Amino acid sequence: MKRRNFIRVAGGGLVVAAGGAFAAPNLDPMPEEAVTGWKGPPPGEQDPRRRAITWAMLAPNPHNMQPWLVDLRQPGEITLHVDRTRLLPQTDPFGRQVMIGQGTFLELLVLALAAEGYRAEVAMFPEGESPANLIDDHPVARVSLIRDPAARPDPLFRQIPRRRSTKTEYAARPVKAEHLAALMVSHRTTSNLLLAFATGKEQLDALRTIATQGSEMEMQTPRTHKESIDRLRIGASEIRAHRDGISLSGPMIWALRQLGTLTPEKALTPGTTAWESGRDYVMKGYASAVAFGWIASPGNARAAQVAAGRAYVRLNLKATELGVAMHPHSQTLQEFPEMAQLHRAIHDATGVPEGHTLQMFFRLGYAPVPGPTPRRPPQSIVVS
Ligand SMILES: Cc1cc2nc3c(=O)[nH]c(=O)nc-3n(C[C@H](O)[C@H](O)[C@H](O)COP(=O)(O)O)c2cc1C
Repeated sequence: MKRRNFIRVAGGGLVVAAGGAFAAPNLDPMPEEAVTGWKGPPPGEQDPRRRAITWAMLAPNPHNMQPWLVDLRQPGEITLHVDRTRLLPQTDPFGRQVMIGQGTFLELLVLALAAEGYRAEVAMFPEGESPANLIDDHPVARVSLIRDPAARPDPLFRQIPRRRSTKTEYAARPVKAEHLAALMVSHRTTSNLLLAFATGKEQLDALRTIATQGSEMEMQTPRTHKESIDRLRIGASEIRAHRDGISLSGPMIWALRQLGTLTPEKALTPGTTAWESGRDYVMKGYASAVAFGWIASPGNARAAQVAAGRAYVRLNLKATELGVAMHPHSQTLQEFPEMAQLHRAIHDATGVPEGHTLQMFFRLGYAPVPGPTPRRPPQSIVVS
């Protein structure tokens, strides 16, 4: 069996492609309780705020660290804070991605509250923005619930449990022009951030090369690669214990663990099967990219980062509705010093105007829908 048949890594995280040699489907499956949130709020849950939080936790977020705290002590309000124990200091030194992940959460919260019959009034940074270079405990947003008989669920709400970050190889066929057009129209109804797509061979090749180099750079820089490996959850028992991070489960992972081929130490070490096949997988993902897209903001204020998160998750939901897969690439958007040259290069190659910051960069295409990723129990993020 070739090594690429048994373990694959995507953008700092690993996912599994089980080869035919191992057909035992019940070894080390994804623990049911880790993905129960994808079924929606538990049937007995009556509190609209807690019901909405269950949906909001399904938001895409960096390394699936779920860096959210919600304060419910004030009736009729939800105050959102960053959970500062769940940051990514090496790859996200200014907390930019963490802030995008606040935006994705906030948008799903607002969609879910509308589905509960509430208009959500969102006050951004009610006690001031956290400074650019640090995440403090100022609230990100205070959301007031206003009963509104006219509130109607946004059609995108229905896509929340079906949405995924699809990290596998994509089909070779191009993304349909009508799908890109529908994504653009949907984006423009709620966001004035720059959204653009690349589908032409020349630009795709240039972006692919830069993205590939960025992933390589992150993997070759020990402290940034370690940050990802520290957040790997290998096998059902680790997944059950954490319900966050990048999770690896299934018969192939079980087998590799038994063989001692897949350990955090090996995944950290260039030259091992775990490390090399990880890199092979990233490269295959980029090689299969038939379209890239990006969201950029003028400047890089905290509010713009949150707005980018809100826009990104709406795009991901719309893509889900259309059957289009999306996969973020963050490496070359990251602000650690070794990445500076590639950070400049991707800004140049996308052609974003001077002074704009690329907030999200992703590939788009068609691929089988993967299973859901774990989420922690909603009560673990609630301050009450
Ligand atoms: C700001 C941000 C950056 C991300 N960067 C990457 C990335 O570089 N590579 C990757 O594979 N996934 C990336 N993701 C996707 C997350 O890994 C994914 O959302 C998380 O694991 C949960 O999985 P889900 O989106 O399928 O629910 C990013 C998501 C966000 C919101």
